[in-house]
Amino acid sequence: MQHTAPAKIILFGEHAVVYGQPAIAVPFNTLQATATATVAPSGSGLSIHARDLNQVLQVQSVAETLDHALAYAAQLTLRQLNAPIPDLTIELWSSIPFASGFGSGAATATALIRALSHALGQPLDKEVLNGLVYEVEKMHHGTPSGIDNTVIVMNAPVYFVRGQQPQPFGVGQPLTFVIANTGVAASTKETVSAVRGLVEQAHAVYGALIDQIGQLVHEAKNHIEKGYLIGIGHLMNLNHQFLNALTVSSPLLDDLVHAAMKAGALGAKLSGGGRGGNMIALVDPADAERVAAALRSAGAAHTWVMTVAATQPAPSLQ
Ligand code: MEV
Repeated sequence: MQHTAPAKIILFGEHAVVYGQPAIAVPFNTLQATATATVAPSGSGLSIHARDLNQVLQVQSVAETLDHALAYAAQLTLRQLNAPIPDLTIELWSSIPFASGFGSGAATATALIRALSHALGQPLDKEVLNGLVYEVEKMHHGTPSGIDNTVIVMNAPVYFVRGQQPQPFGVGQPLTFVIANTGVAASTKETVSAVRGLVEQAHAVYGALIDQIGQLVHEAKNHIEKGYLIGIGHLMNLNHQFLNALTVSSPLLDDLVHAAMKAGALGAKLSGGGRGGNMIALVDPADAERVAAALRSAGAAHTWVMTVAATQPAPSLQ
């Protein structure tokens, strides 16, 4: 049996979410991580075949933490289930580009833990799974807010505040996005640490900026619930400017935002850690292909069109 986990897209509030402000994220199911577990000959232990990394990892100990996020994900699962090393082979592959703001690390860990816990006959509920993937995220990012693992494990739009239960919310009108990957890999750990440097050096200025992003996200949630597309687009542009002020945009991301707006998008912004990775543009569905073509001409390595379905009232996250 195949176990999957989607990529994620942050609509509003990245970086500010690390400081306790809200952020809004949605799953992006076109890109997925997939894992299968098969029984291996007795005594062969647990191996993880990470096809995209071209790596085979042997997990030999439950207790001694291994310095590899996927092996660590397996160890955390075994510790959670109080299980010894099983004789299993886990195959893992993913269509999610690495270091591109799509949550590839959280998605591969989620798929792996799902496959392993099912193979052991003890599937984990979403809350426990989310907690384990968050621990793996710490290995990737140092101080993650928890939004990536949460939206990926829940596989639903979330309004997220660090340390709190994620809130579901309604979507008043379908939201069509063009997503563009810059093709430039960027480390979230580095961008988060660059923003931290600014906040520590000049707290009065950058702390206020972070608070303003939080207010913008609150307003964006109201607009999304009411289906007020023009308002959502304006706030995306404003959020991009704030992220630019936090130094996490890049010339290519700015070019892509401008190209999307020129081609008729309602709003556009970088999404995720920035300085590379991906950007998103909110569009009228009739304009989606034109905006996608404009983004590719402006240097995007790949584009996708994604629609977030309307849901009223807010769906349950259970
Ligand atoms: C990364 O997808 C989102 C950031 O806000 C980091 C985090 O929330 O942990 C940049």
